[in-house]
Amino acid sequence: MNRPTRILVTGAGGQVGVDLVDILRGDLPWGASAAFVPDGRTIEDDEFEVLALTHHDLDITDRDRVVAALRATHPDVVIHLAAYTAVDRAETDAATCFAVNATGTGNLSEAAREAGAHLIAVSTDYVFDGRKGASYVEEDATNPLSVYGASKRDGELLCGEGDTIVRTSWVMGVRGKNVVHVIAERAASGQAVRFVDDQTGTVTVASDLARALVALARTRPGATWHVANTGTTTWYDVAAFVGRTLGRGEDFATPIASADLSPTPLAHRPERSDLDTTKWRAHFEALPEWTDGVARLVRERLLRTAQ
Ligand SMILES: NC(=O)c1ccc[n+]([C@@H]2O[C@H](COP(=O)([O-])OP(=O)(O)OC[C@H]3O[C@@H](n4cnc5c(N)ncnc54)[C@H](OP(=O)(O)O)[C@@H]3O)[C@@H](O)[C@H]2O)c1
Repeated sequence: MNRPTRILVTGAGGQVGVDLVDILRGDLPWGASAAFVPDGRTIEDDEFEVLALTHHDLDITDRDRVVAALRATHPDVVIHLAAYTAVDRAETDAATCFAVNATGTGNLSEAAREAGAHLIAVSTDYVFDGRKGASYVEEDATNPLSVYGASKRDGELLCGEGDTIVRTSWVMGVRGKNVVHVIAERAASGQAVRFVDDQTGTVTVASDLARALVALARTRPGATWHVANTGTTTWYDVAAFVGRTLGRGEDFATPIASADLSPTPLAHRPERSDLDTTKWRAHFEALPEWTDGVARLVRERLLRTAQ
């Protein structure tokens, strides 16, 4: 019998991490689609052995500890999700952000190479400046507008040739704080929301991304991949959709311009950074439509708050 594939997950306590660890252990996390099986293969019992490391377990900025952790555990694959993700805070905390997203990712790549493990590192659409005027493909030139985007771009550059880089965008899970939760809380409490309609992107539901990462962990293809749910949208459209799903009228969400946000966010965000997933879809099943994914998150949140 084949031994299980040993997968080490960094950032296992984050919103993608918790769903990924559930999926690798054969469980269906809250809000996951049972129908989305990107490579057509369900997870066998004992297919994976999971080493789930939270920030508390391993600080990825500590190179020696990262090297020691991989030497001690001999993973086949490292799925690297640990990141500094506070995009606005990063503008005034650049050193920490670069230490985690750039140096930390370099530490993982180096340690994985030394341990003979394949690294899958997750990056972001914010490596782009949003000025292309069309969806971004993997080969497009990067030009980040923010400290966070620049730190993730540097993390990509510190990856080795054989590593797999997965760029994703607008990630939201059932667990963890994100925009959908904020919108749903306002909808449930009778308040209205204002959201920008001049930032276009692609929503990614954490559990759908996690399934995609499992498929990549099986094939270990290397190179860069864009992975996101199907369909392009704006934050205003996401808010209006959540409102409709929760039975609110058309007056629930009002579109505004980014320039009218108050207080002005510290970080510049790209106007249009939707990811073109043609490459992914040529090899694997497309991720579900973003509306399907967001409806799952809202439904699951309702079920959980009703308990
Ligand atoms: N969220 C998005 O919208 C989005 C969009 C595009 C790409 N991504 C990328 O997707 C990946 C997963 O994101 P996510 O949404 O799951 O993020 P998340 O919920 O913020 O999780 C990131 C995790 O990394 C941990 N972490 C932070 N600093 C660390 C360190 N020095 N050492 C070890 N762990 C550390 C955090 O732990 P603590 O909280 O305890 O510090 C947290 O559990 C990241 O690479 C992110 O950049 C996210």
